[in-house]
Amino acid sequence: MSNGFLDIATTPSVLAAQAANGSAGLYDKVVAKRSSNRFSETEAAFIAARDSFYMASVSESGWPYVQHRGGPPGFLKLIDETTLAFPDFRGNRQYISLGNVSVENRVALILMDYPRRRRLKLYARIEARDLVADPILAAQIALPDYRGLVERAFVLRLEAFDWNCPQHITPRLTEAEIAAASARLTERLAELEAENKRLRATLSQ
Ligand SMILES: Cc1cc2nc3c(=O)[nH]c(=O)nc-3n(C[C@H](O)[C@H](O)[C@H](O)COP(=O)(O)O)c2cc1C
Repeated sequence: MSNGFLDIATTPSVLAAQAANGSAGLYDKVVAKRSSNRFSETEAAFIAARDSFYMASVSESGWPYVQHRGGPPGFLKLIDETTLAFPDFRGNRQYISLGNVSVENRVALILMDYPRRRRLKLYARIEARDLVADPILAAQIALPDYRGLVERAFVLRLEAFDWNCPQHITPRLTEAEIAAASARLTERLAELEAENKRLRATLSQ
C-alpha cells in the first residue's frame, strides 16, 4: 500500500535510522490513512483559512532554506485537488526561494493552525509563473484588498501531504481571533463601565 508522504520521506538512510531505533515498519498502516496525493474537502477548508505557511526549498549548493510566507487568509489558493498557487509579494528582494526553485523544483511546506493545534505538511513541485502571460492564473490568485505588490505566481503540484499529530503545538491566537473570542467580554466591560458611571453620578447628586 502507498504511504504517500512517507514514500518520499523514507529514504534508505531514513529506513536504516528506523531499523537502528526499533521503528521499522511502524507507520506502514497508520500513515496511509492520513496521507494522500489528492486534497479532500478537509484539506481545502484548512488551506483556505491559513494566513501563512513555511516553505522549504533547496539551494544548488545543497543547503535547505526555509521561508515564512504570509498574506490575507486564503492567499494560498487551492486550484484543484492536486494544485495550489500563491502570489509572490515583493518584499526584501533577495529572491532566495525564486532562485532555488529555478534549479530544484521540489519544495516542502508546513501549514499551521495554532488555535486548533493542527498542522499539514506537504511535498510539491513548484513553478514560478509570469502573471501577464497567464491572466487566468492572475485572476485566480488576485487579492484586490491586499497592499502587497504581486511580482509573480508560484504554482505547486502536490506530490503528497500528511497530517501531523498535535503534540507540542501551543495554541496561539492572532489579534483578530483574540478580538473575536473576547468580544462579549469587551461588550460587558463597556456596559459595566457605563453603569458605574451612572451610579457614581447618582451618588454624587
Ligand atoms: C516591504 C516588505 C514587504 C513584505 N511583504 C511580505 C508579504 O506580503 N508576504 C510575505 O510572506 N513576506 C513579505 N515580506 C518578507 C519577505 O521579503 C518575503 O517573504 C520574500 O518574498 C521572501 O523571499 P525569499 O525567498 O528571498 O526569502 C516583506 C518584506 C518587506 C521588506
